[in-house]
Amino acid sequence: MTQLSKSPYKGCRDLFPKEKREQNFMFDAMKDIATVYSYEPYDGPLLEMVDLYKAKSGEELINDQIYSFQDRGDRFVAIRPEMTPTVARMVAQIHKQTPKPIRWFSTPNLMRYERPQKGRLREHWQFNCDIFGAPEVLGELEILNLLKDFLKHLGANQSHFSILINDRALVDNLFDEKLKVSKEVSYKLYKIIDKAKKVSPEKLETMMSEVINEEQIKILKEYLSLDNFDAAFHFFNFDCTLDQLISKSKDSELFKYLEYDPTIVRGLDYYTGIVFEVFDLHPDNKRAICGGGSYANLLQIFNESPLGGCGFGLGDVTLKDFLKTHNLLPDLSLPEAAIFICYGSEKEEKKAFEFAQNLRDLGFVTEVNLGVVKINKAFQIAEKKEHPYILICEENSYKIKNLKEKNEISFTEINDDVLNFIDGN
Ligand code: HAM
Repeated sequence: MTQLSKSPYKGCRDLFPKEKREQNFMFDAMKDIATVYSYEPYDGPLLEMVDLYKAKSGEELINDQIYSFQDRGDRFVAIRPEMTPTVARMVAQIHKQTPKPIRWFSTPNLMRYERPQKGRLREHWQFNCDIFGAPEVLGELEILNLLKDFLKHLGANQSHFSILINDRALVDNLFDEKLKVSKEVSYKLYKIIDKAKKVSPEKLETMMSEVINEEQIKILKEYLSLDNFDAAFHFFNFDCTLDQLISKSKDSELFKYLEYDPTIVRGLDYYTGIVFEVFDLHPDNKRAICGGGSYANLLQIFNESPLGGCGFGLGDVTLKDFLKTHNLLPDLSLPEAAIFICYGSEKEEKKAFEFAQNLRDLGFVTEVNLGVVKINKAFQIAEKKEHPYILICEENSYKIKNLKEKNEISFTEINDDVLNFIDGN
């Protein structure tokens, strides 16, 4: 028989308790902020029809990254590679009878067939926050503020991250009015712009010359050199969402995090308005940790009237790298501290479990050492696990000790004295 591997499938992680605690720490922070912004949780299925992604997610996702197969009923299905098509599908079912804006969040796991590397795995969890049917600009502002507040909630500030932002309307204007290229060429240029900062200038030149002529290259280079909002608005000289968003946010904290970046176009086809990525400013981790934007027409794939949406996806892999790089991830190597109950003889077993029940009913995290244990050994276990209290049941005598302060009290039942002792320490 072939030996089965203990490793998880390539590009996937086993989340042992420590890793799961770290993930929960990040998700709890997400939930806190989404909730105070009055976003509601939702979830959807792991499998969707492949056609849902073919409609608008873009070539790269469909051709290279999707996990798809034919089910036993001959349907072509896919493991979700992103959540936006699912949330759009769900909103399409209820939007007519639901007050707007609709504000939803979720933390699904997603799968993409990628070459595993730092920040890129085949399975990741992604915090998604989306708003549907909000007045233009106000919805975008809310989403960006939520994102900024979430990262601040985790201890990050302006020295740690920037929000790089652009507007697809500007990019479309570049293609249609300034470069006057066809849809096919535009599509290729999107990919080139997306890669502009990641390849050498020579490589970029070659990529451009394969698609457009010299005169067009000059204009494209001018576009790529735009490095602030004023320069961008001057270059384009027409009203767009980004323009309004900047004037509305100018005096706010959010503005300090925003940076114009002409290379942010985003790889997914459905975006129509502002597009953004959160960028880690640490020299050791210069990468995007989150991406999002506005999409005006996604509901139309379900033959519904257009309902604009705006949102972002923030992955647990990239977020953890970000927090670790900036020392913002607390040490979660130990489980939640508990009151550690031990008993030195079989006779005391019943009492130990009775105390545990009493304490758990009152909401205290309580661990019982399962089986008789020498008290010295019990102390060692409690200290190794960094439990703050040890409760010892021995020869009809019961005491609880604070392992840090080294003080203790004796008792016969869980009463106010015991609770005050735990609370007061
Ligand atoms: P995305 O840019 O494909 O956008 O992914 C968003 C974030 O998910 C990335 O910035 C990264 O943090 C994480 N991520 C994506 N792929 C991987 C991977 N292979 N391994 C680890 N992390 C990954 C979307 O998915 C859009 N649906 C987001 C959105 C929501 N737009 C509007 N609403």
